[in-house]
Amino acid sequence: MAGQREESARAGGVREAERPRVAARDLTLAYGDTTAATDLTFDVRPGEFVSLIGPSGCGKSSALRAVGGLLAPASGELLVDGTPVDGTPVDGPRPRDVAFVFQDLALYPWRSAVRNVEIALQFAGVGRAERRARALDALRAVGLGDVPHRFPHQLSGGMRQRVAIARALVSDASILLLDEPFAALDELSRLKIGEQLVTLLEEHGKTVLFVTHSLSEAAYLSDRIIVMTPRPATIKEVIEVPLPRPREPQVLRTPEFHALTDRLSALLLEDDPGDVR
Ligand SMILES: Nc1ncnc2c1ncn2[C@@H]1O[C@H](COP(=O)(O)OP(=O)(O)OP(=O)(O)O)[C@@H](O)[C@H]1O
Ligand SMILES: [Mg+2]
Repeated sequence: MAGQREESARAGGVREAERPRVAARDLTLAYGDTTAATDLTFDVRPGEFVSLIGPSGCGKSSALRAVGGLLAPASGELLVDGTPVDGTPVDGPRPRDVAFVFQDLALYPWRSAVRNVEIALQFAGVGRAERRARALDALRAVGLGDVPHRFPHQLSGGMRQRVAIARALVSDASILLLDEPFAALDELSRLKIGEQLVTLLEEHGKTVLFVTHSLSEAAYLSDRIIVMTPRPATIKEVIEVPLPRPREPQVLRTPEFHALTDRLSALLLEDDPGDVR
């Protein structure tokens, strides 16, 4: 898919369909005197699933925040659908086009799972019956179809994460920013749910920027992986994932998959201060 898009972009100029959903050019992100990331240049193409990996504190969440319009770029250019994101939510692409699942997800403790999911639609003015039906669909998609009326305190950490994912799925936003959404799940569940999620996202034509610390998760789910250096982060390498889709769990045991995760860990280890050479 991405290959075909590139072909036609080369042949006939960049049409609307080929314009990156997210385009960062020489982007620097900072909190006062603390520079989180510098010289970030990357694209996320329509319908792509792109992961950001890198050591803790290197600026991955900051990059997501910037794309979501929550952190103004210190310098450089950041475009979402061709429009600059200046960090002011009202002028930025939120909330219509971009939905976030934060690292420290925010569920409303006094609302049941289904009502937590519905809230995105309530704000958008969707009627009661439709929003209930769509919220239940989204909960089924993340494997929580049988517990829609439980409150967050009655759910496990992983289930709560899935409610937050369902809430992002159900919104009309076509760009999803997912910050370690499966961190509370065991490795097998995160891959299973991740794969279901990818299928669902493809069906809905969503574009995803995804942060994870799991190299196998990044390899299994992504079209491309952006490898970042320690803070202040720069982009070390962008890797195209050569595995065909749809991916089945069997792919985890193939030499191609192992070669990819080996390469990712080698890249991260190169910059690891604990790596004595
Ligand atoms: N609100 C803030 N104020 C000041 N500094 C911040 C703030 N948020 C993050 N930082 C700093 O910016 C750097 C990047 O943080 P960020 O949260 O983007 O890292 P990360 O790559 O997502 O890390 P992790 O993998 O641990 O989630 C860190 O050094 C952090 O201390
Ligand atoms: Mg983070």
